[in-house]
Formats: sequence, C-alpha cells, structure tokens
Amino acid sequence: MIQRDLFPSHSCCLWLWLCKEAGFQKRSAPPFGRISAMDFALTQEQELIRESAYKFGQNSILPGLAERDRAHQSDKEMLRRMGEAGFLGVCIPPNYEGMGADYVSLGLVCEELERADSTARVAMSVHVGLHSMTLMQWGTEEQKRRWLPDLATGRKLAGFGLTEPNAGSDASSLRTTATKDGDHYVINGQKTWISLADYADQFLIITKLAETTAKAPYAAFIIDRNTPGFSSRAIKGKLGVRAGNTGELFFEDMRVHHDCRIGEEGDGFKVAMSALDHGRYTVASGAVGIIQACLDASVKYANERSVQGEPIGKKQLVQQMIASMVQGREVGRLLYYKVGWMKNQGLRHTKECSLAKWTNCAAAFDAANKAVEIHGAYGYTDEFPVERYFRNSRGAMIYEGTHEIHTLMQAEYELGYRTDKPLDYVLPSYPFED
Ligand code: CAA
Repeated sequence: MIQRDLFPSHSCCLWLWLCKEAGFQKRSAPPFGRISAMDFALTQEQELIRESAYKFGQNSILPGLAERDRAHQSDKEMLRRMGEAGFLGVCIPPNYEGMGADYVSLGLVCEELERADSTARVAMSVHVGLHSMTLMQWGTEEQKRRWLPDLATGRKLAGFGLTEPNAGSDASSLRTTATKDGDHYVINGQKTWISLADYADQFLIITKLAETTAKAPYAAFIIDRNTPGFSSRAIKGKLGVRAGNTGELFFEDMRVHHDCRIGEEGDGFKVAMSALDHGRYTVASGAVGIIQACLDASVKYANERSVQGEPIGKKQLVQQMIASMVQGREVGRLLYYKVGWMKNQGLRHTKECSLAKWTNCAAAFDAANKAVEIHGAYGYTDEFPVERYFRNSRGAMIYEGTHEIHTLMQAEYELGYRTDKPLDYVLPSYPFED
C-alpha cells in the first residue's frame, strides 16, 4: 500500500518531487513543448455538444426515417436543419462563422448522429471532414474567407470527388484531367460514388494535370455546381444509406479559374490523402454510434423477449453478443478520442486514423450482425432498425479506404514500409488562434 504521507500534498509539489526522485534536472522550459496530456474526461462543452447531437438525432432524423429508407428517398431538409443546429461548422473557427469547438467534439457529433442514421453522419463526413477541414488545412486565407463562412453555417453544402470508375483504392490512376488555359483550367472527366452529388453547391475534386512539370501530376480544385459543363446523376439501388443522396459527377470542358485551385500544382494527391485523414475520422467515430444503436435495440429486445419463461437477456450466448458489442464501443471510443486529441494537438495522425477507421467499421458491422442474430427473424425485417444498421455498416467497410486497404496500411507501418513524415500544410490545432 502507498504511504500517502511520503508524498507532498500539492500536485505541483508532487510533480517536482517525482522529477527529483526520477533524477530529472530542473528546466527553464516545459519538457514536452505544446503537447498537453491525453485526457479521456469530456469537458462540459463536449458533453453539451454530444447531448444536443443525440437530441437532434431523436427529433430531427428518426421521425419518418424508416419510410424514407424504404423508399430510397433522401431528405435535403434534414441537411438544412443540421446547418441551423451548427453541426456543419462544429470545428470551424468562429472567425469563419463556425461553432469553434474542438475535433473531439466533431467525433462526438458524428457518433450521436450516426446512432440515429448513417445519412446524417455521411453528410458530416463529406461536408465537414473531406471538404471544409481540407480547405482549413490547405486553403489560402483568401480562399478560407471566400468559402468557409457559407459552409460553416450550412448556407452552402459541400461534397468531395476523388473516386472514378477506374480509380477506387488505386486513387492515383485518375483519368479526370485539368488542362491549363491562360488564367483557367479546363476540366474533363467523371467522378463516382459521390455523397450529396445532387445536393452540394460545391465540390473539392482531385484531377490529373494534363501538362505539368510537377513530380506528382495532380491538382485539387473547389468547383461550383453552377459552372457550365457540370452535371450530376443519382446512383440507384444501393444496399445501404438509402435515405442519403449518392451519385456521379460529370465535367465537360468545365472552365475553372486558377484561384479555385487548392494547394499548388502537384499537391493534388496530398490534398486528397489529407482530406481522407479528416473523412476517415468522422467514419470511425460514426461507427461507434452504430454500435451504440445496436446495443440500444438489442438490450431492449433482450429484456422484452422471453423464451422458456425468462428474458433472452438471461441466456449466456445472448450475453456474449452484448458483451462483444460493449467491447467494440469502448475500444472504438478510445481509438477515435485519441485521433481527435492528436488533431487538437496538431500532430500527424494518418496511421492512427486508419487504425480507428479499420477497427471501428469492422466492429460496427460485427455488432450489427449480432444485433440481427439477437432479434432472430424479426431482425431480418424492417420492422426493427437492426437490419438498417446491418446494411449501413457494410458500406463503411468499403468507402474512405476499404477494409483491405487499411489492413495493408497497418501492416506496412509495422513492417517499416510506410512512415508518416511531417506535413508542409497542417490542420490548425485547437484552441484556434484568433
Ligand atoms: N497527408 C498528406 N500527405 C500525404 C498523406 C496524408 N495523409 N498520405 C500520403 N501523403 C503524401 C506522401 O507523403 C507522399 O508524398 P511524397 O511523394 O512527397 O513522399 C504522397 O502523398 C504519396 O503517398 P503514398 O506513397 O503513401 O501513396 P500511396 O500510393 O502508397 O497510397 C494508398 C496508397 C494508401 C492505398 C492510397 O492510394 C489510398 O488511401 N487509397 C484509398 C483511397 C480511398 O480511401 N478512397 C476513398 C474515396 S473517398 C470516399 O469514399 C468518400 C465518399 O464520398 C463515399
């Protein structure tokens, strides 16, 4: 047992005492620079944000959702309400009209929104993660002032376009081209599997450069859907996220001014990869919301449904499935809280984000599978929500890096074939500077 009277009572004295005992010399500067300790307790502000996202899910997403999902009908009105509630600008600094909360809060919003339905979290992923945060990371001050206020308030909606019919996991084999013509680029090509394709007012797209001396021939642009030569078309018949809009984008001799280019010529692939650092974070945190939703439904059902005179929750094999879901939720939260903390500190987090996305999406699909199992035949119908969780969670193992891509990335990091170098352009750390 620790003898308490051996330690000085004041925590600062305790720190000095521990340093002395460990043989550390007194330093004039803090030993760990600007990095603050990882803290798993949520602040009052974060708890409030989590609570308001939960209530939004209950009051503004769930009513009518089952019917919309059955009818493959998306709800643009819900996106407007998300903007009004401030979620679309949750981690955008106040000087760009955002809520100015930290990046852990972004994860909490994604978790609670996806607890209601994946469609709302998908909108967070593309609008906030892949588009707005990438603009925060790579945009010039003029570009941020031009676009971020409308995005942070939801006055405008945004999407992201990397994937093409022949460029999925192999993101570098893009065929969409940007050809320089005076002050403009002429863009031709096609993107597919684009969330909010029919709704977004603007898209961050990645193209190949037709003529360039850059080592990596890619460039990123923010394009407006009203630009002549732009069109979109919805994709029908999806397995999941049926109440969300997904489609294709087409660019035909679309002229885009060079001041809409994000980053330099040659930066396009890096812009895309850093966008995925933000998008994958929102997917990883949202996946925990699916696990929680599976638990909500399964615990209720296991307590209400009786077999042989007792609730099925008393059956050990059902308990095993519940316990496994709890494990997924708790591990998942720790993984995404860590990535949120790293974003707050301004640390590179590609490896940790890939790990969180990979682990949490697999755990969410497993939880949904178990939730269907617990519900038996009822779980196989849309009378209960678990079949929707099952279909929605499958998609997250494909988009924003397939399960296999993340498996390979994790192995490559461990084997020393892949490392995360310091970045030239970093996401602003939290607290934001004025
Ligand atoms: N931030 C900044 N720069 C980065 C970066 C990051 N996160 N990751 C890599 N880079 C840089 C590297 O440092 C490197 O730069 P140098 O040449 O100067 O060294 C350059 O980018 C190339 O990086 P890599 O060598 O790591 O690239 P790679 O070819 O090995 O990448 C891959 C392979 C990891 C599999 C990558 O192609 C990949 O992630 N593929 C999956 C694509 C994906 O997730 N698509 C999802 C589309 S979005 C979507 O689905 C959303 C939706 O709407 C549904």
